Amino acid sequence: MTNTRRSVSFLGLGAMGSQLARTVLNAGHPTIVWNRTAARATALVAEGATAAPTPAEALDADLIVVCLFDQSSVREVLDPVADRLAGRRLVNLTTTSPNGARELARWAAAHGADYLDGGIMATP
Ligand SMILES: NC(=O)c1ccc[n+]([C@@H]2O[C@H](COP(=O)([O-])OP(=O)(O)OC[C@H]3O[C@@H](n4cnc5c(N)ncnc54)[C@H](OP(=O)(O)O)[C@@H]3O)[C@@H](O)[C@H]2O)c1
Repeated sequence: MTNTRRSVSFLGLGAMGSQLARTVLNAGHPTIVWNRTAARATALVAEGATAAPTPAEALDADLIVVCLFDQSSVREVLDPVADRLAGRRLVNLTTTSPNGARELARWAAAHGADYLDGGIMATP
């Protein structure tokens, strides 16, 4: 049976990103996962997620969720794929400062992406 739910990709599978991805996967959404250290995707792939070998290959989803270490790691991962962000929906849940959030929002807008910045106030 075809899954008609919207797809969600996750860049960053640390303690928080893994649990976010698992929650979305368990809710029945096609879930694509990428992590710098690829082994961290193994458990989620066994549960049904699809591994993206590179960040670029994780962009082809209805929603892209970023949960990395800090602001500079977000730019480190997204800068190389910036020219592929136009028209995409990006949610960044990496902890940044208010000014950092504004800077990333301007950066995303300059590349034509819809951008929402959030801070998680809970534990995985
Ligand atoms: N854990 C919590 O209780 C909690 C609560 C609220 C908010 N947050 C926020 O959520 C975010 C993620 O936290 P976390 O607990 O998941 O952290 P974490 O377990 O330390 O994971 C960090 C993630 O960032 C990746 N990363 C770090 N530097 C990178 C770089 N330069 N390029 C690519 N990937 C990089 C790591 O990849 P590797 O696996 O390759 O190292 C890993 O996927 C943080 O901003 C944190 O402040 C966490």
